Amino acid sequence: MRLIASEPCKSSMIETRAIASANALARTVESCHNAGVNLKDRTVLVTGAGGFIGSHLVEALIAKGCQVRVFVRYTSTGRYGWIDSFRAEIRQQIKIIAGDLRDSDAVRDAVKGCDAVFHLGALIGIPYSYIHPREYVDTNIVGTTNVLVGCREHQVARVVQISTSEVYGTAQYVPIDEKHPQVGQSPYAASKIAADMLAESFYRSFGLPVTIIRPFNTYGPRQSQRAIIPTIIMQFLESETIALGATSPTRDLTYVTDTVAGIIRGAEVDGVVGMTINLGSGTEISVSKLAEQIAVLLGRKLRIREDADRVRPEGSEVARLVSNNSLAQQVLLWRPLVPLGQGLRQTIDWFQANPSGIRSDYAV
Ligand SMILES: NC(=O)c1ccc[n+]([C@@H]2O[C@H](COP(=O)([O-])OP(=O)(O)OC[C@H]3O[C@@H](n4cnc5c(N)ncnc54)[C@H](O)[C@@H]3O)[C@@H](O)[C@H]2O)c1
Repeated sequence: MRLIASEPCKSSMIETRAIASANALARTVESCHNAGVNLKDRTVLVTGAGGFIGSHLVEALIAKGCQVRVFVRYTSTGRYGWIDSFRAEIRQQIKIIAGDLRDSDAVRDAVKGCDAVFHLGALIGIPYSYIHPREYVDTNIVGTTNVLVGCREHQVARVVQISTSEVYGTAQYVPIDEKHPQVGQSPYAASKIAADMLAESFYRSFGLPVTIIRPFNTYGPRQSQRAIIPTIIMQFLESETIALGATSPTRDLTYVTDTVAGIIRGAEVDGVVGMTINLGSGTEISVSKLAEQIAVLLGRKLRIREDADRVRPEGSEVARLVSNNSLAQQVLLWRPLVPLGQGLRQTIDWFQANPSGIRSDYAV
């Protein structure tokens, strides 16, 4: 201000203009980066595409008319997870890239030329994270860094980083909004906190257009049988008594198609770059009530046996999770559409129709 009011010398006028034009450029870049991506006909990459949520996301993106690339973990069997179960005409529309998130070259090649990247690939099992925490660091933290570096290098227009409600630990207040403290109660949660922080830092440091979508517990067809709902269903289908760990913890459950809709909104919507947004139903249910509800739907009598192998260390068990989803409603115009009863019915029907590979015994 003072420079302009007094007699400005030539060099300071140039400097002032340079700063003004840099600020204007920064505003243009900011508003440009903050514009949502119209996904139709755009090239998008899904990491973790062979997994539970990723495979549903791939189907939804194809239905939207995207050119979908999937990054799936390489194995010598040539299997690509749930992508293998897709009908041939859907599979033909997908470009499959096999690799490992820990390999920066593979990830960089995969994101090249993409308009949007949905990063879901991760190790997600909490009990396995007690045994091999290092693998979680490598996959979830180093893997996410590889995705961010690649997206920055190839100027991807929107990166959707998938977080988890586990980052909050046991609720310190309810419902949990995005400002709730983050507490790593398991190596898995700690690795996801680090991954989110890196994503946030790439937005702050380099203006990478990242939106962090934070789903609470998601359920539905294709979920791993280690997760609570498939565990209950599969055991009921095989025996009279079900073995569970702690039954008092509560969770906030969202059906997978609703979670997928929120994840897609994270790429499409204007003005959400740099934000972290919860996706959850806003209601909680305890594990014991959930088991009761599934028993009713299956027409079975509930008999629970506590299994010490499934009980988590006291400080690690997340006792309560329930979301405040106001931000998602406000900025993503998102709300869950599938009520718990209907979602559970659909999930039970799917597991009954797809019994292959069932294991009701406990595996970490
Ligand atoms: N399922 C839930 O309730 C839930 C809730 C909140 C957040 N999330 C998050 O959603 C994402 C997807 O979870 P999901 O339930 O579909 O899990 P999932 O285990 O079914 O899918 C994860 C995928 O990541 C892949 N992957 C793991 N390590 C890899 C590596 N090194 N290289 C390449 N790919 C690798 C796996 O092969 C798998 O296909 C994760 O980031 C998870 O943290 C899940």
